[in-house]
Amino acid sequence: MTALTSAVAAPELLGRCRALVRPALEEAVGRLHPWVGEMAGYAFGWCEVGGTPVEASGGKGVRQALAVLGAEAAGAPGRAGVPAAVAVELVHTFSLLHDDIMDGDADRRRRPTVWKAYGTGPAVLAGDALFALAVETLAASPAGPEALRLLSGALGDLVRGQADDLLLAARPWAGPHRVRPGEYRTTAEHKTGALLGCAAALGALLGGAPPTVVAALDRAGRHLGIAFQLVDDVLGIWGDPAVTGKPVHGDLRERKKTFPVLAALDSRSPAAGRLAALLASGEEPARAAALIEEAGGRSAALAEARRHLAAVEAVLAGVPLEPVAADSLRSLLDFLVRRDR
Ligand code: IPE
Ligand code: MG
Ligand code: MG
Repeated sequence: MTALTSAVAAPELLGRCRALVRPALEEAVGRLHPWVGEMAGYAFGWCEVGGTPVEASGGKGVRQALAVLGAEAAGAPGRAGVPAAVAVELVHTFSLLHDDIMDGDADRRRRPTVWKAYGTGPAVLAGDALFALAVETLAASPAGPEALRLLSGALGDLVRGQADDLLLAARPWAGPHRVRPGEYRTTAEHKTGALLGCAAALGALLGGAPPTVVAALDRAGRHLGIAFQLVDDVLGIWGDPAVTGKPVHGDLRERKKTFPVLAALDSRSPAAGRLAALLASGEEPARAAALIEEAGGRSAALAEARRHLAAVEAVLAGVPLEPVAADSLRSLLDFLVRRDR
């Protein structure tokens, strides 16, 4: 993947934004019922079950960084974007708590998921609490109603994406009811892109940006979400386990309907027919990976990712942004899609 730019080192950028947002995030979580607050702290990677603090690594904090950079891109200080950053991190964590229950996943970030550690009912409740806290945080922000409108729009799309994700998993590999690459793209935009776009847009809104800039950052985040998912798909099949921390051909073993597979099946090449038969049997993931590549699935996914990154770049170039913040945004985007390093 070609670098957009690397003027500012992304890990430092993420660290700066995490440090800026953490006190406000802790303050918000501190207002929850103590037991619910402990589950939230566990989900953020701040404590163990029982509440003992840990220096564990939570997520990268991509969404909070997008919110802070969104404010800076509007010419405001990063702290103006903090309520947006808090809200999107709360929503993201809420969506993961419920997603792990929906997917039946036992581990996240190398620890038991919240529902495994505390039980399904408590994990549902903790998710609800984080959602309510996000709404409360934005309602109290200077951009109140407009900020809530952006957040509820993203939440609606997230639910749409999660619904389609569940439905697509149950569809056949071949035949008239097979999943088309376009359906996958829409699902990825809703499931992943909507909240990334919302993060940057909310930050810009709180930074005082005009509506055209807010809308542009929202669009950029959506394209980023799709590109991110496509790169994730390629790594999920061909990624080096030493780098990804996931088993080789993991997505094929789990029979995930990812873009490279769907594009290969849609290619009408001789390999596509053989692939459909093999996927139905669930055997020989290494051979399936070779057939996907032969049918052009891998190159189609990478080309599609490049197309969405170019769209991000075009959107960013089309609006007036504070140049240093815009460079930081580009550096972050580049970091996110080059996870093979
Ligand atoms: C989770 O999607 C993203 C949400 C919208 C909550 P996935 O189920 O595809 O991703 P992981 O593998 O659990 O993070
Ligand atoms: Mg999941
Ligand atoms: Mg899921």
